[in-house]
Amino acid sequence: MTKIVVIGGTGLIGSKLVAQLTARGNEAIAASPDSGVNTLTGDGLAEVLTDAHVVVDVSNSPSFEEREVLNFFTTSTTNLLAAATAAGVGHYVALSVVGTERLTESPYFRAKIAQEKLIKESGIAYSIVHATQFFEFVRTIGNSSVVNGEVHVSHALIQPIAADDVATAVGRTATGEPINGTVEVAGPEQFGLDELISMSLTLDGDSRRVVTDPEARYFGAQLQERTLVPGSGASVFPTRFEDWATRRSS
Ligand SMILES: NC(=O)c1ccc[n+]([C@@H]2O[C@H](COP(=O)([O-])OP(=O)(O)OC[C@H]3O[C@@H](n4cnc5c(N)ncnc54)[C@H](OP(=O)(O)O)[C@@H]3O)[C@@H](O)[C@H]2O)c1
Repeated sequence: MTKIVVIGGTGLIGSKLVAQLTARGNEAIAASPDSGVNTLTGDGLAEVLTDAHVVVDVSNSPSFEEREVLNFFTTSTTNLLAAATAAGVGHYVALSVVGTERLTESPYFRAKIAQEKLIKESGIAYSIVHATQFFEFVRTIGNSSVVNGEVHVSHALIQPIAADDVATAVGRTATGEPINGTVEVAGPEQFGLDELISMSLTLDGDSRRVVTDPEARYFGAQLQERTLVPGSGASVFPTRFEDWATRRSS
């Protein structure tokens, strides 16, 4: 049986991933501070990685503040890579974001770039999954874009994906061979960010006005039309935003 340790296994993607991997007959272990595994301090890492074949990092920083998020991704990734190497783990999988390399103005994405660089330079066999924004995250994007009670977002394109589909994609990567590179995954439809945020607010019964603002920042970064969308080689997953939203509210 393949032992797969999921760091951040209690989170949005992690919990779905552990359930999917377990259903397919793997030994999937959800690791997080609650289960005594802390990548920032290193606590519990050696123990949980004993005899592991694969480690999947779907953790996230509790804070997006510049210093804290950079410290989270660099410290946790350094500790995890060292522990995985010491344990002889054969495949290191990490989840990151489509367009990360284009979002250098953003403190969060600079931290993700640093995380990816550590993995690529570590010498361990790895796969990085770049997903577009989760449907479940669209509300957070809106809430992070409020100026004087109005929601200011640009008209840049976005091709969001359901968290269930992200978990499926990460699970397939984790049970496959390391690619020592990056795969992109996305949902089936592109929207203007302003259009998607409007749909999301309407679905939430939120009457705040959406202002299309080309200067609006996305977590600190100015967006060009295609900053957030993947290249032509991306794997496209089927769940549509409206179908997901309807299921969520029924
Ligand atoms: N949001 C998006 O649209 C999007 C798009 C593409 C990629 N991503 C990437 O997806 C990843 C996962 O996101 P998510 O939304 O599933 O995250 P999440 O729901 O916030 O879950 C984060 C997980 O990390 C764990 N964690 C926090 N600090 C830890 C520590 N010190 N040691 C070990 N585990 C720790 C948490 O444990 P507790 O439950 O104990 O706090 C939780 O299990 C992130 O790396 C993000 O960059 C996100």
